[in-house]
Amino acid sequence: MAAKETETIIKLKSITKRYGFGDAESFALHNFDLTVKRGEFIMIMGPSGCGKTTLLNVIGLLDKPTSGDYQLQGKSVARISARKKARFRAKEIGFIFQNFNLIPNLTVIDNVCLPLLYSGIRKTRRLKMADTILERFHLREREYYMPHQLSGGQQQRVAIARSLISNPSIILADEPTGNLDSRASHIVMEELRDIHALGNTIIMVTHNPALTTYATRVIHMLDGEIDTDIKTVDDRDLPRPGDPEKISVRILPKKDNQIEIAVDAQTNVVVTGKNVIAAQPEESKKTEKKSAKTKKSDDKKKTIKVEKRDEEKK
Ligand SMILES: Nc1ncnc2c1ncn2[C@@H]1O[C@H](COP(=O)(O)OP(=O)(O)OP(=O)(O)O)[C@@H](O)[C@H]1O
Ligand SMILES: [Mg+2]
Repeated sequence: MAAKETETIIKLKSITKRYGFGDAESFALHNFDLTVKRGEFIMIMGPSGCGKTTLLNVIGLLDKPTSGDYQLQGKSVARISARKKARFRAKEIGFIFQNFNLIPNLTVIDNVCLPLLYSGIRKTRRLKMADTILERFHLREREYYMPHQLSGGQQQRVAIARSLISNPSIILADEPTGNLDSRASHIVMEELRDIHALGNTIIMVTHNPALTTYATRVIHMLDGEIDTDIKTVDDRDLPRPGDPEKISVRILPKKDNQIEIAVDAQTNVVVTGKNVIAAQPEESKKTEKKSAKTKKSDDKKKTIKVEKRDEEKK
């Protein structure tokens, strides 16, 4: 199949972020160039103070660079009005932080609803949307808990659910597993991998080299600049949203032994998931056999690419 050009979603050109003046002058980012394609899963690493959080804040429109040009989906951010920027941020960008940033005196479900507060969506609908997404994260029975009644891993999953409720296409995560043990980290990373497989772009800061296996690109920063930049997946192989053969997905209800059940709406083949590879097996015996076999092997590493190849073979 002929590969389409992968869309550039973020382009930073000579971005500088300076703090202080004169003797106190320091650069959190220095002539920073970065081009991000839609569907990349980028991990940013580097020593404390090298500018990782500053970079995420600039990309997420929370902070303005001192100089340089930032193009977001082809538009220069400097020319977008503050109101449009706020709207874009609310709709297209999801933030996940190291310390979860949940509001302590709001219930889990109210926390998840927060990004929709000014969306014009009615409260009953907002609650329904939060309920649906919390079910996906296996947190439905804790909807009316307060954040302090949850474990760290559960709190971070609530924070991820909150960051996804407005269906953003860019997810910015600043050490999302920094406060979690390795098991909880793994669960959070599996969620992020699934979100990425749906064609979303993820930029994540981490200090943990073991997590880079989830990335399609690893950037090491040093003193506000890129030190190394390694892509492990070709741009043409990145997951894309909206490709009719792939990313039109719907979430099926949870069934016995099945978790994480998103299938391509056209082919009914699972395009992302943990244990379940094929859904609705009654439609095809072949698919059913494949499903059982794959379930047994508990192949957690299946990705869209693998699924697609299987499809093409048939
Ligand atoms: N508001 C600020 N005023 C002055 N200097 C700042 C400010 N925010 C960040 N800096 C400086 O900018 C540099 C980059 O900070 P940043 O928070 O981006 O680092 P980081 O790579 O995220 O570090 P860490 O791994 O510790 O989170 C640091 O030297 C920091 O002291
Ligand atoms: Mg930081």
